Order: sequence, then structure tokens, then C-alpha cells
Amino acid sequence: MAKSGKIYYCQNCGTRHTQWMGQCPVCKQWNTIVEEVVSRRDVKKGAAAPAPKRVRTLRLTDIDGQSGRRLTTSDSELDTVLGGGLVPGSVTLLGGEPGIGKSTLLLQAALRMPYKVLYVSGEESPAQIKMRARRLGMDENNRVLILPETHMQTILPEAQREQPQVIVVDSIQTLHTDYVDSSPGSVSQIRETAAEWIRYAKETGTPVLLIGHITKEGVIAGPKVLEHMVDTVLQFEGDRYHRFRILRALKNRYGNTREIGLYEMTAKGLEPVQNPSGIIPGTHGEASGTALGMVSEGVRSFAVETQALVSPSVYGTPQRSVTGYDLKRLHMILAVLEKRAGMRLLQNDVFLNITGGLRITDTALDLAVAAALISSYEDEPLPPDTAFMGEIGLTGEIRPVSGDARQALHEAAKIGIRKIYVSAHQSLESVPDGLEVVRWMKVSQLYHLF
Ligand SMILES: Nc1ncnc2c1ncn2[C@@H]1O[C@H](COP(=O)(O)OP(=O)(O)OP(=O)(O)O)[C@@H](O)[C@H]1O
Ligand SMILES: [Mg+2]
Repeated sequence: MAKSGKIYYCQNCGTRHTQWMGQCPVCKQWNTIVEEVVSRRDVKKGAAAPAPKRVRTLRLTDIDGQSGRRLTTSDSELDTVLGGGLVPGSVTLLGGEPGIGKSTLLLQAALRMPYKVLYVSGEESPAQIKMRARRLGMDENNRVLILPETHMQTILPEAQREQPQVIVVDSIQTLHTDYVDSSPGSVSQIRETAAEWIRYAKETGTPVLLIGHITKEGVIAGPKVLEHMVDTVLQFEGDRYHRFRILRALKNRYGNTREIGLYEMTAKGLEPVQNPSGIIPGTHGEASGTALGMVSEGVRSFAVETQALVSPSVYGTPQRSVTGYDLKRLHMILAVLEKRAGMRLLQNDVFLNITGGLRITDTALDLAVAAALISSYEDEPLPPDTAFMGEIGLTGEIRPVSGDARQALHEAAKIGIRKIYVSAHQSLESVPDGLEVVRWMKVSQLYHLF
């Protein structure tokens, strides 16, 4: 007999509660606690306890290192972010906002991989998948098997029978397992189905890629524990209305999390971006409020354009709005400019935008952000062919960047930058010909440009 009990889970943070409450005491979200009926298969009364499984301890030297060989996804960006390809038996979770291109990315990789791939789709019909494959120009592929199914106890035997080399699941929120009674997409379903995939992956050595939805707060829907359970968590981000997308590793048990993958969404699918600085549209130096910054994300350095608009506030409370950069960081830079560079920003609305739909996390962009803000405030364009690279400290000092400064300088020279402003403490081994490096101490020195 299956025994069932009422359990309440917070759909936001995944915490288990014994009773319903209006607000989750852990994550403080309202109306997120939902009752879920979990049934457990009990051992029959009187039946003999199952014999314990025989296990054997191993020495590191006994373990065959060859099984650690990685499988290529035939997508250079995805391989880089994964740390060199898929690790056998690993489970990877790919998260991203609706419509960002998660299904496109993994279907495209599945179609290009030189392996037998099982593509489990709970979200789209086979005809829709065929349509997407046609758009990608690869609908003649016969190595990819499509399984339009959401029931785990149907999917797993099929996977055992077909023995694919790689499995893609689109998406984990649509699946359901018999072991839990709650509806698909609920915390306990997600946790249980993920656990079943992890077990399958470890037992068969098959890498499994799971697509996961993201809630409006930007976290992967379902319990936070899902992120702990899987080996790798990738995030696909960018602006749906722009062409460019960034793939980042938020967690990777088999590689570093500094690498990023850059893609462009085209009619033929996602193309890797070979020359990231090519993203910039080239209006800098003409209008006020735009500045070029050199940033390093992962092993890559490239130029990004920041656009700022500082305008008198119409309402009592000035607005601060940012796209593609950290809002807290913008607040900090504004406070520094107010205190250390004598700007009066309290009566102004401030808008900041990173062009191309990219989201930049590298603080090396601080100086370019400050330059764009001052340029807009003064309504004076910055000198043409200049770029900025430096972090801003609370005392208004310009700090050296931690990324690969040499590569950033080479990239700057390559795209035609003549002058770059960096921290006075920046260590530079070599400077490319034709590029002048100006070393500054204080953010207030930006005023020398006008
Ligand atoms: N013909 C096309 N040309 C250019 N871009 C396209 C074309 N068709 C689709 N796209 C892009 O692909 C995106 C949809 O991709 P996809 O379905 O892979 O996203 P997803 O992240 O899986 O979405 P969901 O969360 O709804 O499953 C669209 O938002 C659009 O940007
Ligand atoms: Mg999809």
C-alpha cells in the first residue's frame, strides 16, 4: 500500500512546511506555499527486509580515468562553457527566460553532435520540433530520436531500450513521475524527476541535459535544491528583443565558471559570435552619453558600448533604470560621482543601457559607465576612438582590473581605439602599437575630457 501525507512546499525556495501559511518564513514570498501530496511506497508488513546492496570501496588508482573522456557537443561555445564538452554521467541544467532560445540551443547541439541523442519533449509536438529542425537546416538528421512524452515511467524504459549516448529533456517542469502525486512543475515533482534522471545518468554514464524554466525573479523555477543536485547549471541570458545571447555557467563541477559563450540569434539558429566587439554599433564618440568600455568575461576580452541618459526628473523621486548592468553598481557609481566628483544627480533621472542586449558582470566597465554618465550630464560627447577600462572604488579611486588586461588592449587596438584610460596601478606587460594608454588615479579626472 502506498502511504500518502500532506506536505506543504514553498514553490519559490522549495522549503518544506508542515502547514499552510500565507508567507514563506524562509524566503518571505507571499502565496507561494502549496499543498503537495507525496506518496511513498512502503515495504510490505512482514516481508523480509531487502538484502543490502554489495558495495566495494575503491582506491583512486583503481579507477579507470579513461571514462572521464568528454563528449563534444559540436558547438564550440557550449563546449567551452561546459569546460571542454559533456562529462559522461553528468547532469546539466540549462535555465533561461521564456523565448530566449533554450530549445533552439539544445536542439541545434543535438542535431550537430556525432552521437545518438534522445530528445525528450514535453513542451512541443514532433511536428513543431521538425519545423525548428528545418529552420536550423538539419531536418534530415537521423541520429536524433524524438520522444514526445512527459511520464517518467514511460520515458526511462524507452531510454534503456534505445541506449542513447546523450539525452536532452525539454523541460524538467513538464515531467511527472508516479512516485509523487502532485502536479507537474511542482517542487516535489521537479525534485523527484531530477533525482530519477541523476540516477539514470550515473548508472548508465549517459550525459543528460535538462532545460529548466526561470521564474520572474530570474531564478530557476522549482527548488533551489535542484541546482545543488545537478552537476552543472548553465544560464542562457540576453534580451529577447536583441540578437545577442550569453551562455554562462553558474555552477560547474567539471570546469570553471568564468567562461562564457556568445551567440547571435539568426533565422538559421544560434551562431557563435567570433568577434564580440563587432556587436557595438559604432555610434560612440558622436552623441553625448555613450562610452566604450573594455571588459573581460571568461577568457575573452571585448568592447561594449554603454549609453547613459541623465535628465531632469519630472517626479519627486528620481528614477534609476538599468539594462544589462547591475543596478546596485550603478547606484554606487552615482554616489561616488556625487561625493567625489561634485555632480548633482539627486534631481535627475538616470538611465543606463548596455547596447546589444548583453548583460555585463565585469566591474572593469565602471569607468566607462561613469564616463557615459558625465558625458550625458554635461551633454558633451567623449573624444572619438577612446575606451575605458577600470573599476571604481568607494573613495573615487580607479582600480586596476582583474581580467586579462593585455588581451583587452589588443582587442581595443584591433577595433581602432587610439586611447585607453586605465588605473594608474594597472600592470601592463605590453602595449600594442598605435594605442596610447593614459593612467589615472581618480574618477574626477574624467572631467579633464570635456
Ligand atoms: N525565424 C527566426 N528568425 C530569428 N529568430 C527566430 C526565428 N524563429 C525563432 N526565433 C527566435 O527563437 C526564439 C525562440 O526560441 P526557443 O523556442 O528555443 O526559446 P525557449 O527558450 O525554448 O522558449 P520557451 O521557454 O518558450 O520554451 C524566439 O524568441 C526568437 O528570438
Ligand atoms: Mg523551449
